[in-house]
Amino acid sequence: MQQDGEDTALNETELSRQAAEAWRQGDLITANRSFAELARTRPSEPRHWMNLGVGCQAMGVMRDALKAFQRAVLLQPGLPRHIANLGSMFDPVDHGKLHSIMVRRLLIADPLDAEARLAQAARALAQGRKQQATSDARLAALLSPDAAQAQFLLASADKTDTGMVTHLQRSLVLVPGDPFGAHRDLERLIGRRTDQALSSSYVAGLFDFYAESFDAHLTGKLRYTAPEVLERLLQSAFGDMDGWADRAVDLGCGTGLCGTMLRPHCRYLIGVDLAPRMIEKARANGAYDDLVVGDVVEVLAGYSAPFDLVIAADVTTYLGALDPLFASVAAGLGPGGRFGLTVHALEAGDFAIGWAGTYQHSATYVEAMAASVGLSVELTERGAMRYDDGQPLETLYYILRKPF
Ligand SMILES: C[S@@+](CC[C@H](N)C(=O)[O-])C[C@H]1O[C@@H](n2cnc3c(N)ncnc32)[C@H](O)[C@@H]1O
Repeated sequence: MQQDGEDTALNETELSRQAAEAWRQGDLITANRSFAELARTRPSEPRHWMNLGVGCQAMGVMRDALKAFQRAVLLQPGLPRHIANLGSMFDPVDHGKLHSIMVRRLLIADPLDAEARLAQAARALAQGRKQQATSDARLAALLSPDAAQAQFLLASADKTDTGMVTHLQRSLVLVPGDPFGAHRDLERLIGRRTDQALSSSYVAGLFDFYAESFDAHLTGKLRYTAPEVLERLLQSAFGDMDGWADRAVDLGCGTGLCGTMLRPHCRYLIGVDLAPRMIEKARANGAYDDLVVGDVVEVLAGYSAPFDLVIAADVTTYLGALDPLFASVAAGLGPGGRFGLTVHALEAGDFAIGWAGTYQHSATYVEAMAASVGLSVELTERGAMRYDDGQPLETLYYILRKPF
C-alpha cells in the first residue's frame, strides 16, 4: 500500500515536470496528454482538472475543457480561479445567463475581482439599473484603474455633464481605439467633432452583439424596409435588363437582408462587413458567393476587377465623413456602374451624430460627395428606412451612376 502511494507521488512529480516542459515549449499535445494522465492518476486533485481544462481550451476542445473546469469547481467550489476558468467558457453574448451566473458566483468567492465587477456593471447598465451599475463601475475603477470600460460605464451612469466628459476622456486616454463609443458621446455632449466618431471596434462589437437577434429586431420592431425600397429603385434604374450585375458588392452586408434581394439579379455577389458574427449569419443565409470581414473602404480598395453594382444599405449611419467611401466606390465601379445607398437625412450642414446616436448626412453633402468623384444622381427618393424608439429615420435613398 505504502509502495503504491509512493509510486503515484513519483509518477505525479514526473508527469507534472513533463507537462510543464511541454507547455513551455508550446507542445500542447504532449502537455495535454500529461495533464489528462495526471487527472487520471489522482482524480481528487482539483489542480490537475484545472490544468487539463486550460490545456483543452488552448487546443480548442471546448467540451472537454468545460468538463474539466466543472470537475475542478466541484472539488474546490470556493476557489475564485476555478470559477473564473469555468466562467471563461461562457460567452457573454451566446450564453448571457450562464455568464452572469458565473460572474455572480465569482464575486461571492472574490468580491474584489475587477473583471467580474466590470461584467456585472455592464449588465446592470444594459438592464437600466443605473445605481447598481455606478457602484460596480466605481469599485472596478478602483480595483483596476487602467480599465477603460470602467471609465466608460461611469460616464454612462454619471448624472452630470462634466463628470461624464471627464470619464469619457479618461477612457479614451486608456484605450484610444475607442471600443465603447466615447468619441460619439463626446460629440453629443460637447460638440467635439471628429470625422469618424464611431470606431471600427465599436461598430464591430455592437453588431457582433446584435447578430443573433438582428433580423427579427430590424424587420419586426424597427420596421426596416431599405432592401425593398432599394430593390424597387434598382428595378426602375435597370429597366427590363435581364441581370443587373456581373459583379456586385454589398457593403456592410450584415446578415444578408439585401443579399437575398440582390441574389437573383447578380452573377457574382460579394458581402463585406466589419462584424464577424454578422458575416457568419450572412454565410448561413447562402446569398453570397464570397464574404469578407473588414472595413468597406479598405476591402473595396483591394479589388482590381470592376463592379457593376455597389450597395450600402443603412451603413452610412455608421460612417461620418463620406469622402473615403465615395472615392473607393467610384474607383471600384466599372463604366456605367451603379451605387445604391441610404442615408439618414440631415436637414442642414454636412453630417453629424444625430438623435439616434448614429450619423445623419444632408442631401447637399451626399450630392457634393457624388459630384466630387464623378458620380451622377440617377434616382433619389425620401422615406423612412426604419424606426428608432418609435421615431422614423427620415431617409434619403440614392441610385448614383458612373458615366460610360
Ligand atoms: C444596420 S446594419 C445594415 C445591414 C445590411 N446592410 C442590411 O441592410 O440589413 C449596418 C451594418 O454595417 C456594418 N458596418 C458599419 N460600418 C462598417 C464599415 N466601416 N465597414 C464594414 N461594415 C460596416 C455593420 O457591422 C452592420 O452589419
